[in-house]
Amino acid sequence: MSQPTFGPRWSSIVSEGWRSGLPDLQAASLTLRELQVADAGALFEELNSDEVSRFISPPPANVAGFERFIRWAQAERVGGRYACFAVVPESRSAPVGIFQIRVLDPHQATAEWGFALGSSYWGTGMFMASARRVIDFAFGQMGLRRLEARACVANERGTGALRKPGAVCEAVLHQSFERDGERLDQGLWTILREDWLFLKSVSRVAVH
Ligand SMILES: CC(C)(COP(=O)(O)OP(=O)(O)OC[C@H]1O[C@@H](n2cnc3c(N)ncnc32)[C@H](O)[C@@H]1OP(=O)(O)O)[C@@H](O)C(=O)NCCC(=O)NCCS
Repeated sequence: MSQPTFGPRWSSIVSEGWRSGLPDLQAASLTLRELQVADAGALFEELNSDEVSRFISPPPANVAGFERFIRWAQAERVGGRYACFAVVPESRSAPVGIFQIRVLDPHQATAEWGFALGSSYWGTGMFMASARRVIDFAFGQMGLRRLEARACVANERGTGALRKPGAVCEAVLHQSFERDGERLDQGLWTILREDWLFLKSVSRVAVH
């Protein structure tokens, strides 16, 4: 007897080619590539500061912790749940930050993205150059339809960054983030695939 068909709700509609390895994504003056265990020391140096981690979940506290995180990221990628890119400026071989995409619901093609750069690279254009490529990857190669980000309302820089590729604040999640004993509100910022494609088609300056 053949299996009944229940439509896309019951079969993953998220593309899976990326599970065997992330491609290199080229942008002006940088490359986004798969994390390697050897990146642990550089990422620890760049991301383990109060300035970078003030409004995000604490990064690993030492190099060994970053090595464990990178191995975990690779295993999650194989499982189709997570993609994490290292941001490597053209002048370096070591990364200065990460962009991550965590699949929340493959049936609904929904994922959460997040990012962090070493503070010396803030305001350099590296965020937006990377974001364009990562969003294209999420909506293209991963087949996602909705990208969510949670950003502390007090994180003006993170919120300002999210506005740039057209993310829209759908809601405020009250006291949804705990850091150092303090409970903070977060904005739920979303980008829909059709909105991204529309924005790209009408505003090449803003998103290209
Ligand atoms: C988030 C992050 C990757 C963005 O990179 P960035 O290089 O700082 O981002 P950009 O400079 O391109 O964009 C930030 C925007 O916020 C704006 N901004 C900065 N401080 C601001 C403030 N106090 N109030 C309002 N807007 C502010 C900037 O002016 C900029 O917009 P503009 O280029 O249109 O002027 C980086 O700041 C970072 O790693 N932060 C720590 C980790 C983090 O918070 N991650 C995000 C979690 S949601």
